[in-house]
Amino acid sequence: MQQVMIVTGASGGIGAATARLAAQRGFRVVLAARSAGPLEALAAELDGLAVPCDVAQWPQVRDLVARTVDRFGRLDVVFANAGYSVSTSFRTEAGAPPEQWRDMVLTNVYGAALTAKAALPELQRANGHLVLTGSAAGRGIRPGNLYSATKWAVTGLAQNIRAECVGSGVRVSLLQPGLVDTGGIPPERATEPKLTPHDVAHAVLYAVEQPAHVNVDEIILRPA
Ligand SMILES: NC(=O)c1ccc[n+]([C@@H]2O[C@H](COP(=O)([O-])OP(=O)(O)OC[C@H]3O[C@@H](n4cnc5c(N)ncnc54)[C@H](OP(=O)(O)O)[C@@H]3O)[C@@H](O)[C@H]2O)c1
Repeated sequence: MQQVMIVTGASGGIGAATARLAAQRGFRVVLAARSAGPLEALAAELDGLAVPCDVAQWPQVRDLVARTVDRFGRLDVVFANAGYSVSTSFRTEAGAPPEQWRDMVLTNVYGAALTAKAALPELQRANGHLVLTGSAAGRGIRPGNLYSATKWAVTGLAQNIRAECVGSGVRVSLLQPGLVDTGGIPPERATEPKLTPHDVAHAVLYAVEQPAHVNVDEIILRPA
């Protein structure tokens, strides 16, 4: 029976590349993001299921898992990848106004936590795997950068969920990419060396395809 993977943030960038690679490797894929159009197109390409969903909304995240299990009867892997950055400054007027900070924090931190909460009962049934997208920004200092702090929170979230999952059969991995060439990068970093979304997808599948007794705790990936 084919294994089933949910990918959040699947409408573009790292999520779409990972869904494509996972489908090539034999997974049935369930694609989640807020924009229905790109999701439907990718679902048609990959013979997957598109579930428009805001990961910061608990009923929608619960529904994502329920629809996956209704359709495919199981859930083996969840890639909690939805997230984005707005530029911030605490000391100056530069960057986005504070009204725009809230949704970033809710998506990157609360959304990842809700995704784990909704998925873990099904993952436990399948001896499954939760992979979270943190960032290299979640282990280093970025002056004035609230996005980096949300990814520090994802670093802690992954470790705390993994600790709770010890002995349950569920594996938990944290992926921490450096700059990746997607719609998600700020214009001021456009000329820096970058990974491709496909590079990151390979790292996700590396963790997922290890034998069941091997947990890849963290992968840090940077452009050489
Ligand atoms: N690009 C980089 O350099 C880099 C480096 C390290 C980590 N990351 C992380 O990698 C992940 C993917 O980002 P990306 O670079 O691939 O950027 P991207 O191409 O902009 O993709 C972000 C994805 O997240 C979805 N999303 C955003 N808010 C959402 C919400 N509230 N609910 C559901 N889906 C939501 C977006 O779709 P909708 O807008 O349609 O909802 C989109 O599919 C993010 O967590 C990001 O922080 C990126």
